[in-house]
Amino acid sequence: MSDVSIRLLTPAQATAALPALADILADCVEGGASVGFLSPYRPQDAMPYWEGVARAVGNGETVLLVAEKNGAILGTVQLGIGTLPNQPHRADLKKLLVHRRARGLGLSRLLMDAAEKAAAAHGRHILVLDTATGSPAEMIYEKLGWQRVGVIPHYALMPDGRYCGSTFFYKALQPIEIWPA
Ligand SMILES: CC(C)(COP(=O)(O)OP(=O)(O)OC[C@H]1O[C@@H](n2cnc3c(N)ncnc32)[C@H](O)[C@@H]1OP(=O)(O)O)[C@@H](O)C(=O)NCCC(=O)NCCS
Repeated sequence: MSDVSIRLLTPAQATAALPALADILADCVEGGASVGFLSPYRPQDAMPYWEGVARAVGNGETVLLVAEKNGAILGTVQLGIGTLPNQPHRADLKKLLVHRRARGLGLSRLLMDAAEKAAAAHGRHILVLDTATGSPAEMIYEKLGWQRVGVIPHYALMPDGRYCGSTFFYKALQPIEIWPA
């Protein structure tokens, strides 16, 4: 996969990437993924969301990573690091998204590896995420070593408006010696 690369975006690069990111998010929603938005959802509908992400990159609350293949942005993931003062060691992993035309090529695995490295570089060693129960992503996180915590039923909606549960996961990047504290 020498034609694939992962890039951590600066605020200016995030702004430049907005159209590609909007295209990926719209493709995922229209592909049936429960990732925050309802169908019908077009790339232009996704622009305000990504503009907010670009602002969060600018103010240091979000780390934004993209996967590129042959120079085209086809996947992305975010780390939310704007945590409260008593959670300086935690990050929220958000919006792992790969365009349908680039699935199954290992982009999500590369993005997740890079997100873990970025988290460690920011001193974050407890990572948390949630995903739609029963989605393909749910299986992938277990494969990547995330610990399943449990399911909250009716947590969100699928793009077509049906309820879906959310499965919560965490990953500890350092051994946890004292548990549960
Ligand atoms: C979930 C998603 C990000 C996976 O992206 P991807 O780049 O196709 O995944 P990869 O090719 O990196 O695959 C990673 C691993 O998961 C496995 N996998 C990929 N798709 C799978 C599927 N539909 N069912 C089961 N396993 C799957 C792969 O075999 C691979 O395992 P391996 O490395 O041991 O072979 C992509 O399907 C997607 O964007 N879905 C819609 C958005 C979404 O639901 N995101 C999650 C939000 S929490």
